[in-house]
Amino acid sequence: NNQLLVLGIESSCDETAAAVVSSDASGKAIIRSNVVLSQIADHAAFGGVVPEIAARAHVEALDGLIEAALTDANVKLDQIDAVAATSGPGLVGGLIVGLMTAKAIAAVIGKPLLGINHLEGHALTARLTDDLAFPYLLLLVSGGHTQIVLVKGVGAYERWATTIDDALGEAFDKTAKLLALGYPGGPMVEEAAKAGDPARFVFPRPMKGDKSPNFSFSGLKTAVRQAANSIAPIDDQDAADICAGFQLAIADTLRDRVKRALERFKERFPDVAEPALVVAGGVAANQQLRETLRALCKKYGFSFLAPPLKLCTDNAAMIAWAGIERLREGLADENAMTTAPRSRW
Ligand code: KG4
Ligand code: ZN
Repeated sequence: NNQLLVLGIESSCDETAAAVVSSDASGKAIIRSNVVLSQIADHAAFGGVVPEIAARAHVEALDGLIEAALTDANVKLDQIDAVAATSGPGLVGGLIVGLMTAKAIAAVIGKPLLGINHLEGHALTARLTDDLAFPYLLLLVSGGHTQIVLVKGVGAYERWATTIDDALGEAFDKTAKLLALGYPGGPMVEEAAKAGDPARFVFPRPMKGDKSPNFSFSGLKTAVRQAANSIAPIDDQDAADICAGFQLAIADTLRDRVKRALERFKERFPDVAEPALVVAGGVAANQQLRETLRALCKKYGFSFLAPPLKLCTDNAAMIAWAGIERLREGLADENAMTTAPRSRW
């Protein structure tokens, strides 16, 4: 049965989110509602997400958001076919809030519960927005993850690369913190870089040319700190120049790492006529990085897909959609009602 109506819940980090997604007879997705409450303001003073504050904020916000998602979608709870909630990875306090709420709703309406891996949500988002067939490549770049994943099918993923230290979003956040630009750092660094000279500071390109497919950003972080210390006190122009140099180093590194993955994909799937690279995660908002990847894909004959920003960052529509994809494949977990959240899934 292709026609499904699923309530999704996301609470693994610092956004509380609920959404209703359906699929029509042809299997096409329709986002019926998608509400997200960002906790950024609650955490800004601390320069990062505070788990205890996040968990409490999820408790306060979630019920109201679920009601809003149902109202926006014009759907009553008893029409829902299943409830899908992020059950890992993430901050355990938030995961408990979302998963227990989902269990309660599923129990009351007597419908299946799906515990969804947050990364699977990101991985399948491009199929929610576009008519995209398996296999394809995913570059996931967020505050918590930096991965290249081969998406072979629903529930069939191969991780080709990961970071051996900091996540890419973290590197942006730490650079912003060092330069006192504010939190979250990515958008601040991008904005500052526009007025900067990328040639003034030449930062290392971590792992460039390295045989391992992985990422590393801690050396870059150290180099940024040394540059800032060497000219202290720094003025606005210094900060802009550092940001521009930092962003260029990141763009070069991404180009090098992703290029390897595109080559590997072509070797492995020579018959895929229209190979595709999908980006997801908050860092995918960065225009310079997007343009770098778009140009690289063009050169290698890949189509480049970047879902709308609202669906690139954490949201519940992607969780509901992953639930629909799993239900259709008969991959719902029979034991979901008795499983615990997995912070390190
Ligand atoms: O996916 P996301 O909203 O949340 C998770 O981490 O799960 O990603 C947030 C990260 C933060 O580190 C933020 O600084 C970064 O994405 N980010 C950006 C930009 N916008 C957000 N990094 C670079 N450039 C941006 N424009
Ligand atoms: Zn995420």
